[in-house]
Amino acid sequence: MTVELKNDRFLRALSRQPVDRTPVWMMRQAGRYLPEYRATRAQAGSFVKLCKAPDLACEVTLQPLERYPLDAAILFSDILTVPDAMGLGLYFEGGEGPRFERTIQTAADVAALATPDMESELRYVMDAVRTIRRELDGRVPLIGFSGSPWTVATYMVEGGTSKNFSRIKGMLYDKPELLHSLLERVTRTTLDYLNAQVAAGAQAVMVFDTWGSILTPKTYHTFSLDYMQRIVDGVTREAEGRKVPVVLFTKGGGPWLEAMADTGCDALGVDWTTDLAEARARVGDRVALQGNLDPAVLYASPEVIREEVRQVLESFGHGPGHVFNLGHGIHPEVKPEHAGAMIEAVVELSPAYHR
Ligand code: CP3
Repeated sequence: MTVELKNDRFLRALSRQPVDRTPVWMMRQAGRYLPEYRATRAQAGSFVKLCKAPDLACEVTLQPLERYPLDAAILFSDILTVPDAMGLGLYFEGGEGPRFERTIQTAADVAALATPDMESELRYVMDAVRTIRRELDGRVPLIGFSGSPWTVATYMVEGGTSKNFSRIKGMLYDKPELLHSLLERVTRTTLDYLNAQVAAGAQAVMVFDTWGSILTPKTYHTFSLDYMQRIVDGVTREAEGRKVPVVLFTKGGGPWLEAMADTGCDALGVDWTTDLAEARARVGDRVALQGNLDPAVLYASPEVIREEVRQVLESFGHGPGHVFNLGHGIHPEVKPEHAGAMIEAVVELSPAYHR
């Protein structure tokens, strides 16, 4: 499967190589703001069923690429497929977000976790990767992803999205060795998972650490960053004769950018609470940066969106090493034309930063 890549801007930017313009994609680019996504999800029956049907997952992955001149596709799936396959039973309750039938509270719960086989229990994900690569036919690269072990563990312990993270933080302080044993299991499965995605055709991988920022500086290092370090060290970094870049994204991780760059990853996702000029000054030429338009800017008019895009491009400044993105996922209420205005502004305004 060594189809020539027609557009490699995204991969070049992640390696800080020169590009003609700043590449752009959006976190959650296949999602509820698109009517065609909602129609395919209805056809599948539910979000989980959509994830588990490779042909439909491929269809929704490609939908935003039909609308916009995006420079990357991202596998349509979820970070919670991993704990689901480890035996916790993922489901979504109407508009309530993710839930698990079983949670992790004790050492016996950790011991009872399954070690899923990537080509059986998680085969539907690998089939989606293979199908998407075939259908993309080299148009743009495909991003694979996982959650960070810490972020995935928050869902496994809390049983869903949480406000105070009382259970996992109680565990962190009362029974740190129990939490480490859970993180150890999740890390091993996550590494298998990402490596299977690369073997199936993922051309870059991104690790989403959505909840790293609820930790203290010290516990961020021991309970989140150390496990992401193991992922950076263990993930396949080359395939099909090309580098497979690794992007780490801790939402709210501004205080820890230097430490994240020290893992040896290729790029950092940055949210809108950190200025890109400051981030760039701090990490220097060690990593590329991806971000960081406030997703709420997309509620504004196309004229305002264009000006805000210009400010993000200006904050990174001239030269390679920037991938334009939102600072977090696109909101479901955003009008598709407003996402289009953002992408168009990047296409039109960014060449000036690469001359
Ligand atoms: O970016 C993409 O287009 C790829 C698909 C993708 C999804 N989830 C699809 C999805 C990716 C990369 C994710 C990652 C993910 N999932 C994260 C990390 C990134 C982040 O957003 O912080 C997290 C924390 C999850 C867990 C998760 N999945 C939650 C908390 C929710 C409910 C909240 C919400 O936004 O509704 C989901 C559901 C989910 N995952 C949806 C999509 C498109 C919406 C479900 C639906 O269509 O009904």
